[in-house]
Amino acid sequence: MHLVGTVLLFFASLLASCQAFKPVIIIHGLRQAASSLKDIDGYIREAHPGTEVTVLDLYTRDESYEAPMMEQVKDFGAAIKKISDAHPEGFHLIGFSQGGLIARGVLQIVPNLNIDTFISLSSPQMGQFGDIASIRKYFPAFLKKELWRLLYNTRGQLLSFGGYWSDPMHVDSYRKTSKYLAYLNNETSDASHVADSFQWKANFLRVQKLVLIGGPDDGTINPWQSAHFGYWRDCDRSLSVIVPMRDQEVYLMDSFGLKTLDQQGRIVITTVPNTNHTMMHRDKNVVTSAVLPHLT
Ligand SMILES: *[C@@H]1O[C@H](CO)[C@@H](O)[C@H](O)[C@H]1NC(C)=O
Ligand SMILES: *[C@@H]1O[C@H](CO)[C@@H](O)[C@H](O)[C@H]1NC(C)=O
Repeated sequence: MHLVGTVLLFFASLLASCQAFKPVIIIHGLRQAASSLKDIDGYIREAHPGTEVTVLDLYTRDESYEAPMMEQVKDFGAAIKKISDAHPEGFHLIGFSQGGLIARGVLQIVPNLNIDTFISLSSPQMGQFGDIASIRKYFPAFLKKELWRLLYNTRGQLLSFGGYWSDPMHVDSYRKTSKYLAYLNNETSDASHVADSFQWKANFLRVQKLVLIGGPDDGTINPWQSAHFGYWRDCDRSLSVIVPMRDQEVYLMDSFGLKTLDQQGRIVITTVPNTNHTMMHRDKNVVTSAVLPHLT
């Protein structure tokens, strides 16, 4: 190659590295590991060359449900804090499925994070009440309607999904026993949490933009609207009515900052059709249209 060409290429690469993309951290879902997310990782690197993408390889495979959510938040939080401190200009956080609930916990609990955009990708942010493939082998004889008996107690809360199992017919038990979602939502009956709830809200409000991605053909998140902070109405046996985010009590009371973010135009809600749970991070069109535009 000619010298001039080489020099030009050199300056072009310098320029490219100057308009740098902010680093991206990704948290995997239930029974996954960092390698499970190689598709979305690759699409980001391809579209935004030079991006520092970190898929955290903590609590992988069976460890992802054999440890309580709060414990996982502590370790994911420490890893994220380290990257955040090295990037005062900000970073983006993507959480897939259970990983989106871990991400939210980190953002509420860990102070002073330089968080820019938080993308919650198919995450049951208002809880889950339905099939979880990985628990079938443990509770084959039980229907989802009976699972609360196993999960709403000290031992059940040692399993990750126990912390965000939300049975609309047993709301009181959920508030009394949930060691995770009831705290994030400030729905817990543990009065000692009140003091923390204000700090957690202040921490969460550091998020510049919250992107909620979910879709009706997800097949795993139940109800799928939980990905958009919607959920079944309490005590409705027929499970026929979804209370949307803006009518949820946690929204109306602004108990962790959701209403503030929304009123300031900092929430983007995206509905992705014809896409099942796994394809949410594997389908190039989905990632390109719903995720990449927010990673600048
Ligand atoms: C959390 O709930 C308690 C009890 O209902 C309430 O007093 C407190 O104001 C709530 N905290 C926030 C941040 O809304
Ligand atoms: C999800 O969708 C993909 C592509 O359409 C398909 O190959 C895969 O079998 C589906 N997975 C499930 C669990 O339905």
